[in-house]
Amino acid sequence: MKGVILAGGTGSRLRPLTLTTNKHLLPVHDRPMIHYPIRSLVDAGIGDVLIVTGGEYVGEFQRVLGDGAALGLARLTFAAQRGAGGIADALRQAESFAVGEKLCVILGDNIIGGTIKGPAERFVAQKSGARVLLKAVSDARRYGVAELDARGRIKRILEKPDHPPSDLAVVGIYFYDADVFDVIRTLKPSARGELEITGVNNAYVARGTLEHEMLDGWWTDAGTHESLAEAARLARGS
Ligand code: DAU
Repeated sequence: MKGVILAGGTGSRLRPLTLTTNKHLLPVHDRPMIHYPIRSLVDAGIGDVLIVTGGEYVGEFQRVLGDGAALGLARLTFAAQRGAGGIADALRQAESFAVGEKLCVILGDNIIGGTIKGPAERFVAQKSGARVLLKAVSDARRYGVAELDARGRIKRILEKPDHPPSDLAVVGIYFYDADVFDVIRTLKPSARGELEITGVNNAYVARGTLEHEMLDGWWTDAGTHESLAEAARLARGS
């Protein structure tokens, strides 16, 4: 399985910090944010990694990461996303990197205290489809939220719902088979003009091949000033 870290977007909720650099190069406690998703992948045994970011930032990432060997990567590759057309638009840039392999996709601002080794192993054993991780949160309206059916399977995922059907947020760490690129080609831009990762996950629900499990340990994104401060606090203690 290969790894993809999505580190594009505008980082508008972190202005003015993101006026001079990419959000994922900002410090979280004692290292740049991008180190954390790399660490999660390496810990899960995934050493062949693609980072998707805005073309103007590729040089900055290379200066910070080099060839990635110091962080345990076997191969580090970059792809450029033009504009900020959404998470699924960023993922689309990974098609030629994936060459038919399964992928673990991490949003570059998602930081976890535990490991994704178990979920990664279970996805390798999963015949096909996709797998998402869920976490109970107190402010579900900020996230993709899972609605479960009577059997405990995901019935649908709602993106930032005003009235969340549960407190189960969809974590920004996803496992996909190679069909994900065909799925992305069927998506239409959402009301906010983006290709949504929730659209991808709901397509797998419709196929009956979306599995899920709960994520152990703490989880935060670092996409707002509050959550960036919280991420630093959690990272300091872990
Ligand atoms: O943090 C988990 C949540 O992340 C999920 O629960 C939501 O379902 C998912 O839509 C996402 O929500 P956000 O609104 O927090 O996503 P955001 O726009 O902040 O983007 C998260 C990361 O995705 C960002 O750090 C970099 C990457 N990204 C985003 C966009 C819009 C890109 O690479 N390119 C993009 O165009």
